[in-house]
Amino acid sequence: MSTPLISPEEEPQLSPRKAIIAVALAAATVPATAQQDAPNDAKAFIDATCNSCHPLGARVGTGYTEEGWSTVLRMMINHGVGVPPEKMPALVAYLEKTYPVRGRPEAVVVPGPMKVTMRAWEAPTPGSRPHDPLAARDGSLWYTGQMANVLGRIDPKMRTVREYPLKTAHSGPHGLKEDRAGNIWYTGNTGALIGKLNPKTGEVTEYKMPDPEAKDPHTLIFDKAGILWFTVQNANRIGRLDPKTGNIKLLTPPTAKSRPYGMAVDSKGNVFVVQFGVNSVARVDPKSLQIKEYKLPDPGARPRRIAITSDDIVWYTDYARGFLGRLDPKTGEVKEWQSPSGPKSAPYGISDIKGVLWYSESEASPNTVVRFDPKTEKFQTWTIPGGGNIVRNTDVTRDGNFVLANSLTNEVTLVRIGK
Ligand code: HEC
Repeated sequence: MSTPLISPEEEPQLSPRKAIIAVALAAATVPATAQQDAPNDAKAFIDATCNSCHPLGARVGTGYTEEGWSTVLRMMINHGVGVPPEKMPALVAYLEKTYPVRGRPEAVVVPGPMKVTMRAWEAPTPGSRPHDPLAARDGSLWYTGQMANVLGRIDPKMRTVREYPLKTAHSGPHGLKEDRAGNIWYTGNTGALIGKLNPKTGEVTEYKMPDPEAKDPHTLIFDKAGILWFTVQNANRIGRLDPKTGNIKLLTPPTAKSRPYGMAVDSKGNVFVVQFGVNSVARVDPKSLQIKEYKLPDPGARPRRIAITSDDIVWYTDYARGFLGRLDPKTGEVKEWQSPSGPKSAPYGISDIKGVLWYSESEASPNTVVRFDPKTEKFQTWTIPGGGNIVRNTDVTRDGNFVLANSLTNEVTLVRIGK
């Protein structure tokens, strides 16, 4: 349901930001009388339009800049919310005044010996909200265009970005993984489905949730046996989909409202899930389907994403307290390090690259790339050009580089390590 301003086959020429400004300028010629009433009108319009799917107050976080609010409105329009273009300038002005950026910590740059270079690609549709990145085996980079209802494929060599439209309108593609045959799987977070795209044909197969309560499939991962596991955050479920049969089974963790979120698989094939609603990490035995929960020591911990190193140590980002955590599932022992940009830095997407942890601080201004070496227990950080925000998930290329999806800046960033 997106209307790309340019052909998806072309390299993007007009940046989304410029396109948004163009829309705003075109709308700036409304009659003077209409403009006088604008602030009140804007408030009434927002109150009436922006609380049906989510309470607006629950989504404003630490606020947005003017440009950020333009992008947010773009996202909502892509998602089917009726916002007349001529209202855009007044709405953006009202939202920016009411919910300005505040309380974001300044990024702390920790120098170190490692070199990186970063390169970003823009998603063709403004307000796509690239949620998850994926580094496919053929060298292409993918992202879920959550609000544009597309999967995007970047060919870094040809410098092209192609969008694949999905089947169910506004299905909210969110998590992203590739199977062994090269199919691209995603969770439809608002469509209550798991989807599979065959990139050769563009064909999409959808698997609906078997339980009407399981409305929001979130993150997904394949285990060693090729079974697809996924979390259903608000429904408090962990799901198992057998790609051979399409059969879905839903498990319920022992803790109520645990908000199953990020996932990783250890060397033995156990599925680990961080529970973002509480201070715990769950382990699912893929055979017996038993769930064991590990409590983290601080009751305020809210682990959001997870990576497992080859020694089967679990690493998690504690979003609420701004920590990197280490859990040894053998002993239950936990160790934590304060993230460089501090308690409010909101560490989020994390990956293991050859035994070293790489993650991003999603509230640091600008967002950062953080490297932590477990051997030396030392951090090194970099800021992401253009702000980077908000990095919600990360992935690793076959040659060991780090990939970020930048949801608000509508980009995907490749971090080349050691170059
Ligand atoms: C048709 C449903 C729907 C309506 C109506 C709606 N939104 Fe949203 N909104 C979403 C979804 C889906 C998301 C993304 C997932 C989430 O955060 O729940 C979202 C997220 C957001 C976010 C967080 C964005 C981010 O990237 O973190 C903001 C801010 C927001 N909406 C503002 C608004 C405003 C302003 C309006 C009114 C113009 C509005 N929404 C109306 C569905 C809706």
